[in-house]
Order: sequence, then structure tokens, then C-alpha cells
Amino acid sequence: MPNPLAVKVAGLELKNPVMLASGILGLTGLTLKRVVDAGAGAVVTKSVGPCEREGYPNPTVVEVECGFLNAVGLPNAGIRHFRKEISETKTLGVPIIVSIYGFTPHEFAEVGAAAVEAGAAALELNVSCPHVKNTGSEIGQTPRLVRDVVRAVKSRVDKPVLVKLTPNVTDITKVAKAAAAAGADAITAINTVRAMVIDIETTRPILANKFGGLSGVGIKPIAVRCVYEVSREVEIPVIGCGGIGTWQDAVEFMLAGASAVQIGTAIAFNGFEVFKSVRKGIKTYLERKGFRSVTEIVGLSQSK
Ligand SMILES: Cc1cc2nc3c(=O)[nH]c(=O)nc-3n(C[C@H](O)[C@H](O)[C@H](O)COP(=O)(O)O)c2cc1C
Repeated sequence: MPNPLAVKVAGLELKNPVMLASGILGLTGLTLKRVVDAGAGAVVTKSVGPCEREGYPNPTVVEVECGFLNAVGLPNAGIRHFRKEISETKTLGVPIIVSIYGFTPHEFAEVGAAAVEAGAAALELNVSCPHVKNTGSEIGQTPRLVRDVVRAVKSRVDKPVLVKLTPNVTDITKVAKAAAAAGADAITAINTVRAMVIDIETTRPILANKFGGLSGVGIKPIAVRCVYEVSREVEIPVIGCGGIGTWQDAVEFMLAGASAVQIGTAIAFNGFEVFKSVRKGIKTYLERKGFRSVTEIVGLSQSK
């Protein structure tokens, strides 16, 4: 009998549509293996850049009532060191998607080429980082910069390129269309939502960086809206991300237009078990509703 959860996204064959989101546990080959053993259909690594980066000083992560606020500042060992971790994941049996960042299109292309050489099945471009000449805003807020980054990477690698969009824009579809026109193979929506928490006793923002990115249940309706809007405007698949912790959340994203979903913050609250419960819940939902494949529910909320 065919596997009802199997999906093909941007040329990647997934046994199920539930993936690990970037930045949560994806630091070493060993933690990625634990996520695969827990049943993820694919894993995305922590974002890796051209060279080692310490990140921001503490505190970098704060728990709030509806999720996490983080401003970690892209700490990572740099692609040269990370190559070893990537090559150790080759035998995991699911696609390993390496999340990369850079401060220029050239840097993105260099890091992407090295990641593919080390064994990445695909790349996810984290464009939620500042451009070298434009430190006030994120690359992902300017369609032209996103286009340049995607073109540069696509011209260097022959693996699928996913572009992870920031929700911190007025019209996310403009950025999605720029990425698609430049040759992106899929869109991941969304990264964290710009936010702040203030300690009323000290009277100061809690994060050392003052501002941070909100993740978890609080951003789910924003993410669902973004997936819905983007999937109507581009032909390439959309991968949903933002506040997913239950099978109901995953189904909601797929009905909005996501071909697959990513889970991040919920792992911190629910543990690795979340992959199994979401996967099983989607399968039971499909059976109960009479769908033969999970692909049948993608974008169903959009039909009139
Ligand atoms: C502690 C932390 C670190 C993160 N690091 C990255 C990262 O390195 N690259 C990236 O693209 N997204 C990163 N994210 C964003 C997540 O991948 C995801 O887009 C976001 O958290 C929303 O999904 P969630 O609500 O399921 O966590 C990070 C999120 C958290 C909470």
C-alpha cells in the first residue's frame, strides 16, 4: 500500500512531511540523528555562515507566555568546521537540509557550495540577517537583495534551494515572488517575528540585544496567514513553520497551502515525541476524512 504521508518537496523525497526547523538542535550530526530517530521526514541544520561567530551576549533566549523570544545572533562554528558534521549525517536516511547565511550574495554562494560539497541534500537560505551594506534591516526585507542572493547560490549549486522568509515585512508575497523568479525551489515561511520583552523591575529590555525573534504558539496565526498568502502567489512549494506543536497545527498549515511543515520551539516544550505524535495524528486525520494522500489536503482551504 502506498505511504499516505509521503511527499515530494522541491525534488526531495520525504517519508512524511514533518521536518525539524533550523536552529533547534541542528548543531551536530548526533542531535540530528536523534531527531531522525524520533521520526522527522527531513532535518534542517542550525544556520551556518562563512566563518566562526560567537553570537550575542546573554541573555539570548527568554520564555514568554506564548513561546520564546530569542536573539542568539547566529552563533556557529563556520562552514569549514561544520562540513564534518554535515558529512556525518549522510547515512541518516532522510534529506539533510543545510541552513546557510551570509552578508553578501557571494558569501551565501560560497557557504552553499561548501555545504553541498560536504553532502547537503538541499540548502535553506536564512535571509533574516543584515546585509553587509545595510545593517539596519534584514536581507529578506528587500526583494531585490533576496533575488541577488538566490541567483548567486543557484548559479553555484545543483541541489534544491529553499528560501526562508521573514514575516517582518509589509507584503511577504513580494519577497516570495522575487525568490521564485530568481530560481528558488521552495519557500519556507516563516522565521521569527520581531519582538521585545521588558523586565518591569529593572525597567530594561531583558534580551542583551534588546530586540529578538518571537517563536512558538504566539506566532502560529501569523505564519498560517503567510503560508496562505505566499502559496497563492508562487508556483513552487511552501513549507510551513511557526508555532507548530500538534497534528492539528500541522494539518492547518497544510490546508493553508504548505506541502510540508517544520517544528522548532515545540521540541523544547514537548520533547522529541512531538514528531511521532504529529505524524500519527496527520495519518489518523487523513483516514478519518477519507483522503488517500497528505498531498490531497495541501491548499484545500483555498478552494471555493
Ligand atoms: C533558539 C532559536 C534559534 C533559531 N535559530 C535559527 C537559525 O539558526 N536559522 C533559522 O533560519 N531559523 C532559526 N530559528 C527560527 C526557527 O527555525 C523557526 O523559523 C521559528 O522559531 C518559528 O518556528 P517555531 O515556532 O516552530 O519555533 C531559531 C529559533 C529559535 C527559537
